[in-house]
Amino acid sequence: MDPRMAAAKRAMDYIADGMVVGLGSGTTMYRFVDLLSHVRPRVLLVPTSVDIEQYAARRGLADLIRYPWQVDRIDVAVDGADEVRSDGRVLIKGGGAALVREKIVDYWSRRFVVIVDESKVVDRVPTNSPVPVEVVPYAWPVVAHEIESEMCGEASLRRGTGKLGPVVTDNGNYILDWRPCNEVDDNTERAIKGIPGVVDSGIFANYGGRITVVVGTGGGVYLIE
Ligand code: A5P
Repeated sequence: MDPRMAAAKRAMDYIADGMVVGLGSGTTMYRFVDLLSHVRPRVLLVPTSVDIEQYAARRGLADLIRYPWQVDRIDVAVDGADEVRSDGRVLIKGGGAALVREKIVDYWSRRFVVIVDESKVVDRVPTNSPVPVEVVPYAWPVVAHEIESEMCGEASLRRGTGKLGPVVTDNGNYILDWRPCNEVDDNTERAIKGIPGVVDSGIFANYGGRITVVVGTGGGVYLIE
């Protein structure tokens, strides 16, 4: 079975009737939405991007979609990741520029289930992915300069494909892709967030006991908890 589908299937075990479910973004999440559309549990879905919202609607789930101001909790958030540190304590997200809404929903959730294939599990983060940082457009050169001079590495403005100019997020902001010199962790997450103009970063650290990473492999799944 496709490892991402295997992970998505296992994540369905965390879903029960009556739950409010945070819907992360990305191609692994498409598989999870496909499964939801077959099973159609009695849940409400809070999407983290226009992309996953439209995907869920196309799969016949439009009537289940809600926004944060229409629910009083998120019971479980299911989301993909670009990289997962092998102990599950640090993730990199935002390859699809959905990191801000993902972080809001994932942070708010009582249980956070991350679904990845085994290629995403690495000993140190980042290994291959850049660290995305969402910035207010006015501030991008200042934030890039600050990151490069104070934190080391290179920060470049993400540019679109199919459109000239920078990628504009669902929140109307820009993305800097930072390739740091060193590993990142919760301290880095806090330091970046302290720079004026930064909305948030793709470093997701310290979800403690409420995170479960479901890793799909060619032969099944394993969990990092
Ligand atoms: C979206 O911005 C990201 O955080 C995604 O969750 C991440 O890029 C994983 O996407 P895939 O499932 O497509 O690898």
